[in-house]
Amino acid sequence: MLNKRKKQILDYVNRYKTKNGFSPSLEEIKKKVGLSSVSTVHHHLKDLEKLGYLEKQGGKVRSIEPKEIMVAIPLQGYIAAGQPIEAVNEYETINVPKSLLSRSGEHYALKVAGDSMIKEGIFDGDTVVIRKQSTVENGETAVALINDNEVTLKKIYRERNRIRLQPANPNLKPFYFKEVIIQGKVISTFRNLEEQERKDNFKFNQFLCGDVLEMFKKIPDNSIHFAVTSPPYNVGKDYDNHNDKMSHQEYLDWLYKVWIETKRVLVDGGRFAINIAPTGIRDFVPIHHDYIEQMKKLGMKFRTEVLWYKQTMLKRTAWGSFKSPANPHIVPSWEYVLIFTKGDNRLDGDQRMADITKEEFMKFSDGFWKIQPETQRKGHPAPFPEDLIYRLVKFYSYKENNILDMFGGTGTVATIAKRTGRNFVHIDISPQYCKVAKDRVDNEGRQKKLLA
Ligand SMILES: C[S@@+](CC[C@H](N)C(=O)[O-])C[C@H]1O[C@@H](n2cnc3c(N)ncnc32)[C@H](O)[C@@H]1O
Repeated sequence: MLNKRKKQILDYVNRYKTKNGFSPSLEEIKKKVGLSSVSTVHHHLKDLEKLGYLEKQGGKVRSIEPKEIMVAIPLQGYIAAGQPIEAVNEYETINVPKSLLSRSGEHYALKVAGDSMIKEGIFDGDTVVIRKQSTVENGETAVALINDNEVTLKKIYRERNRIRLQPANPNLKPFYFKEVIIQGKVISTFRNLEEQERKDNFKFNQFLCGDVLEMFKKIPDNSIHFAVTSPPYNVGKDYDNHNDKMSHQEYLDWLYKVWIETKRVLVDGGRFAINIAPTGIRDFVPIHHDYIEQMKKLGMKFRTEVLWYKQTMLKRTAWGSFKSPANPHIVPSWEYVLIFTKGDNRLDGDQRMADITKEEFMKFSDGFWKIQPETQRKGHPAPFPEDLIYRLVKFYSYKENNILDMFGGTGTVATIAKRTGRNFVHIDISPQYCKVAKDRVDNEGRQKKLLA
């Protein structure tokens, strides 16, 4: 197996060559891969040449020829290198150098979420190539299926009455199981350098207009202090650019991938607030229960919930069997805000950056919030009321923290972030809503300047 550095160099050379038609210079490789000297690059290239991955033509620097043949294998979603997470199957393909596969067998790739295998050179965000097989030798790293539908990446040890799943991270404890189904062995690992480069150059206070999972690829790991969102509820709302009526399972599978990314980008101690309304008066759909289950499977801690009482009962029409117990309806006059944390409950920060007042703190820490729904719709079916976001942002983050809304709509979160001196990242698939959001934030900036 190639070591991490050599794989980085090989990936970069391959990618550069495909893009430009010629190979990068030693200096370019040095800069890209973060090496200290050109001679170290040269040394690695020599090794790659000896191993048959690259070949030089006429001894020229810009003539490293990748000999690599690329092969498409299925990318079957995420694997936890940490707490086991529910198996998700995505059916994309990914091109990998043939040298990363073993000579025989069926292969697939998985993206790694978590840092439990770092001592084996497998890092959060890496992609691992797996060969399908149902047994491994003691000490080999494998994909283990446990509890029917959770998968994890660990070193496997068979002990007398149990199987030990051993993390390769001295800070983490092993898991023990009576039964484990081995789904394959790790053959190799690599990192998408282009994606990494995009993350390294990421700037906050951005509107990322596009599909949430695509846009997440730009956001660095462990960079967001507070994520807050109201996802599409899959109830057939008329959004500008989104199918809000998938099958329930399809919807949950899609959101689960969004939650995995959310966890990845949160800092340790970072919070995630999901606003969700109880939906369906006749056919009640408890999506909030599903979200809580999903978060728990991901290893997020369910910290608390806020009841947002919307004070809208005056407009009531759906009674069901009026004045009869035959089939009366309860009309949800509230929404939930479910609060989860990644890792520690405590969010580190400079106390001088805590800008919540005593009155605000006392008021917001009572979890029953009476707030009218937003009346200024701005062409959107379900915008947040500003007060709801103001309370959450002030209560759960410090000034200058980074705040994310991955279904940002008309930009309420970005606007409040700007107003309160936080940084924001706004994602939405709709160009129309992104424009509304940008105008709102620009306007907020102008107001601030006028007041200053
Ligand atoms: C419930 S609304 C959020 C409204 C927002 N809280 C506000 O204050 O305006 C959900 C948003 O998710 C967006 N959306 C739906 N599917 C998406 C996707 N695949 N990627 C990114 N955004 C998406 C919709 O355009 C919609 O604006």
